[in-house]
Amino acid sequence: MDQLNQNLRLSLFNFASGEGIIAPRLSVDIAKVLSMIRFSLILLSGLVLLISSSFAQTDREQAIIDRLSPIGSVCMAGEACAQAAVATASLGPRSAEDIYNTSCMACHLTGAANAPLFGNVEQWAPRIAKGKDALYASVFNGIEVNGVLAMPVNGLCLDCSQDELRAVVDYMVSATEQ
Ligand code: HEC
Repeated sequence: MDQLNQNLRLSLFNFASGEGIIAPRLSVDIAKVLSMIRFSLILLSGLVLLISSSFAQTDREQAIIDRLSPIGSVCMAGEACAQAAVATASLGPRSAEDIYNTSCMACHLTGAANAPLFGNVEQWAPRIAKGKDALYASVFNGIEVNGVLAMPVNGLCLDCSQDELRAVVDYMVSATEQ
């Protein structure tokens, strides 16, 4: 019994001091168990570190993917984003005023290249005198001045139908009648 006590004390001392003295069997067993616990703790903390770093990695990867992705992403037919585009496209016809504001105003509000000013009766009178069909034709064909296309074909509205352009001309002419 005394011998056992002494062995135990010795083994605890060995563990606490960290010295690898070969102790009797019991102390070796305890030391083994303790070192196994220590080893598994190290393993566990390593695992936790690995998992957390892999999460950080995916976060970083996502950030890079976000940064590299193009500003406009492709929408495939049937996807939610494609339906949004269809909804916008079917908002109904543009008004003549909308088209004027987006395509014609740049020149006809500033008088760029001597464009007749919007609502200016004097500047429009001789043009209106030619008749509306002549005005429509000017828009469809453009007007060349000294070899330069001063009034661009379709007034730069590339997706305007001829009916839409006629409505815009009517809108511009009626602005001189108020
Ligand atoms: C880049 C400038 C520019 C834009 C954009 C522009 N115009 Fe003009 N427009 C002109 C100029 C310059 C003239 C005068 C040309 C001339 O007769 O000397 C003119 C003349 C006209 C005339 C008179 C034509 C005639 O026979 O007397 C009409 C009508 C007209 N523009 C309609 C439009 C409409 C509608 C749009 C938009 C859909 C438009 N313009 C966009 C520059 C522009």
